[in-house]
Amino acid sequence: MTELVFQQCLNPQCSGTASLADTAFRCARCGGLLDVAYDWDRLPIPKTLKHFEGKWANRTNPLDFSGVWRFRELLPFAPDDAIITVGEGQTLCQRADAVAAYAGLKPGRLFLQYEGMNPSGSFKDNGMSAAFTHARMTGATRAACASTGNTSASLAIYCAATQLMRGIIFIGSGKISFGKLSQALEHGALTLQIQGDFDDALRRVQEVSRQLGIYLVNSVNPFRLEGQKTIMYRVLEALRWEVPDWIVVPGGNLGNVSSFAKAFSELVELGLISRVPRLAVINATGADTFHRLYNEHHLRWNGGRFDQSKIDSYYASLDANNRKADTLASAIEISRPVNLPKALRALDCCNGVVRAVPDAEILDAKAKIGAGGLGCEPASAASVAGLRTLVREGVIDKDERVVCILTGHVLKDADETVAYHSTDPATSAKLTTRGVKQVAFANRAVQVPNDLAAIVKIIELNG
Ligand code: F0G
Repeated sequence: MTELVFQQCLNPQCSGTASLADTAFRCARCGGLLDVAYDWDRLPIPKTLKHFEGKWANRTNPLDFSGVWRFRELLPFAPDDAIITVGEGQTLCQRADAVAAYAGLKPGRLFLQYEGMNPSGSFKDNGMSAAFTHARMTGATRAACASTGNTSASLAIYCAATQLMRGIIFIGSGKISFGKLSQALEHGALTLQIQGDFDDALRRVQEVSRQLGIYLVNSVNPFRLEGQKTIMYRVLEALRWEVPDWIVVPGGNLGNVSSFAKAFSELVELGLISRVPRLAVINATGADTFHRLYNEHHLRWNGGRFDQSKIDSYYASLDANNRKADTLASAIEISRPVNLPKALRALDCCNGVVRAVPDAEILDAKAKIGAGGLGCEPASAASVAGLRTLVREGVIDKDERVVCILTGHVLKDADETVAYHSTDPATSAKLTTRGVKQVAFANRAVQVPNDLAAIVKIIELNG
């Protein structure tokens, strides 16, 4: 008899499996990525999604309070007493008409899923609480990640808040925003700033974790993705369990898109929804591996027989031309997305599309999102910039119901926000030196003499 919960190779041609407790996070037969798999027939599954509404009445139980674990029947890999929560997932799905108008959608058609409300300020806490729970189940005492900043901030708070593990963080030099670096330092993680970028750091951390037996919490870890499925459960909950037409998400290491498709395909399998939404993944043009491989090299999932040689030769050409990821959306400044095969499967499952948007459009979209009332970091705004592109192209209709995922909080990268709104050349140099010469929606600070009449005059003119 199979185990109730196990890990399974994502490649349908390979029958590789691993036990629940295995922490290699690679198929021992073929080296491919793993999924967390469940024998659903032998697990207690709610009859309808409305079941989860009942959890709200029980908010004094930390597991029902958590926006991840109140859906624990849908990620049933841990007994209740093993679950670790710091109150993640108390997030908001807000109707956003002003942003809809900017993107070209009709009023009432756009919702922003604001994951900046998590304890560490990004969606990463959804996955971290799941990975951390699994880490503890396996007896780990140290956990490591490579990060563009948010994964590391999240790992640092789970280590600090629970005192259960030592957090070890690999970051590329000069690549991380101060907001995120400050979190890693403040929460006491061992922070290793290595020469190189995120792609280099991710390679190293996998090597080091294997050598030292340290638990790895990057999204190659399939338990991370189990936690991130719950972002979609909360979207459905906010829409009264109606499936939207589109989910639009920024693409970096491609963990989110992979987990979202898993969430929806499992819900269909369990008879809890009847259709899946379409998925749109948005790269920054300076870090557009997925876009290029999908749209220019026509790489497809192809039932698991995707053409690895296309990926290998694309990476070889990046190396040959010494082309590194380069975008102001630093969270998604990634050239070698570790979940690429899973993301191909996700697009196949949810009739997905990929686009790449330039930094200037990302920053303009970010300003519009902020003016609409929810502050996000640049990478998050790629979702809205991508939506605007897709509406302009006619791929998304102005009548369709769309949810854009705002993955991280505006305070994660205050420098870029101030640079966007500033007239001071030294301050805005952060953007101009990276190719963003003009911005459309700057809200300039007004310089006023310290004089009552002058102040009054300015307010009367502008207020
Ligand atoms: N948005 C933000 C704010 C992120 O921090 C990340 C990834 C993404 C989007 C991309 O998500 O990898 O699931 O496609 N940040 C990682 C980190 C890489 O280290 O914090 P993805």
